[in-house]
Amino acid sequence: MVGSRAEFLGAGHYLPLANALVELSKNHAVGARLIMEAGAGTGYYIARVLDGLPESLGLAIDLSKYAARRAAKTHDRLNVAVADIWDGLPLKDNSVDLALNVFSPRPARELFRALHPNGKLIIAIPTFEHMAELRDSLRLLGVDRNKDLRVARALDPFFIESERRFCRWNMELNHQLIACLAGMGPFAWHIHSATLADRIAMLTPTVSVTGAVELRVYARR
Ligand SMILES: C[S@@+](CC[C@H](N)C(=O)[O-])C[C@H]1O[C@@H](n2cnc3c(N)ncnc32)[C@H](O)[C@@H]1O
Repeated sequence: MVGSRAEFLGAGHYLPLANALVELSKNHAVGARLIMEAGAGTGYYIARVLDGLPESLGLAIDLSKYAARRAAKTHDRLNVAVADIWDGLPLKDNSVDLALNVFSPRPARELFRALHPNGKLIIAIPTFEHMAELRDSLRLLGVDRNKDLRVARALDPFFIESERRFCRWNMELNHQLIACLAGMGPFAWHIHSATLADRIAMLTPTVSVTGAVELRVYARR
């Protein structure tokens, strides 16, 4: 899964999302001392945000030591920590100026505790359109219809939303990239890998796939 993610992101197919995150980070967190991504995976997004904010230091936190190892190599201002973010963030109170959370679990209380009172939280969540073409043809798991409600229930006690932006783009993907994309998230966890490979083999050589992600910016209550 970590290898699929690294290969797919490295090919630049999620660059529009990375660029949108960088732009929002520059709008909301210029001068940030510490930027933290909770569930940072291979560090792809936080590394790009650090490129856009040259005075900031970064911390990528992930449960997977394999992901953290890759993240450690992505940027010279990025440190990494292996931790279960549901057990707590390995950070002092109020120490983070910008918290990022991209397709990852959101421990709202801990994000609130670690964030500076003037800090910002930026989250990225897939919309119904995200990978819709593949979810139908490969019979992957759908995006949870109650996601909005779940996000609101978790974050509203601690945060106030200040901006929302949609990022929509198109990806032309061959079979190898489709296998990476299906393998890098929870969408295909319920399918045996041989079954998934058979389904991918039935697709046209190139498939046009929609990326559709909502970005939300929050301040602390
Ligand atoms: C869908 S991936 C997203 C990774 C990265 N944000 C990206 O978009 O490339 C979710 C990540 O959250 C991490 N994760 C899942 N549960 C976690 C937990 N309890 N504590 C820390 N990290 C966790 C996974 O290891 C994985 O790297």
